[in-house]
Amino acid sequence: MGNTIVAPSLFAAQSDNYGAAAALVERGGARYLHIDVMDGHFVPNLSFGPNIVEGLRAKSGLYFDVHLMIEYPERYIPAFIKSGADCVTIHPEAAGDVDESLRLCREHGADFGIALKPGTSLDAYERYYPQCAILLIMSIEPGFGGQAFMPSAPERIAQAKRRRGELNAGYKISVDGGINKETGALCTGAGADILVAGSALFRSEDTAKFIRELAGE
Ligand code: DX5
Ligand code: ZN
Repeated sequence: MGNTIVAPSLFAAQSDNYGAAAALVERGGARYLHIDVMDGHFVPNLSFGPNIVEGLRAKSGLYFDVHLMIEYPERYIPAFIKSGADCVTIHPEAAGDVDESLRLCREHGADFGIALKPGTSLDAYERYYPQCAILLIMSIEPGFGGQAFMPSAPERIAQAKRRRGELNAGYKISVDGGINKETGALCTGAGADILVAGSALFRSEDTAKFIRELAGE
């Protein structure tokens, strides 16, 4: 379990200094930064645009894992990649064109990911999985941090792992929502490669220690 990637979720950081939050987790040993983008339509909340990604990119060597919770993601993907996204993960449940989103990620040289809400069948978008760098299993309803982990997530992670073998695909399995040391261990036990952690991580007293423990080191 020492290979688990911890992806701190910027949305949960102190909003007056995101640059400091990104630097804190990078110093603490994180390799990824999870950046949530919300449009007030697909989810009932608003968050970051490409300008935030661009500002952080100038100062950070982290892998930017951009989670788009927006309708018509294809309209914004080029801007996010030009601003510094390394991977763009979209929700296929949202209005928009999944094939075009995938094509744009390829064209602009970023990784592509699919995120699934808790109620979405894993079978529904299987045709895209061989093209994915990340398959993101939501363990909460997207839109807000600080929610309780849904106990159905580990079985969905196990299913994503079985499917990866059947499809001979190479995606990393990520899980997002309500991740702390206990729920994180359940998820890595089920096969998660990436743990996205917001509130629990940024509220911890020793960020580096929290990241090490969550990574199973
Ligand atoms: C919610 C976001 C999450 C959120 C996780 O829609 O996708 O990344 O920041 O926050 P916690 O870890 O507090 O559930
Ligand atoms: Zn997220």
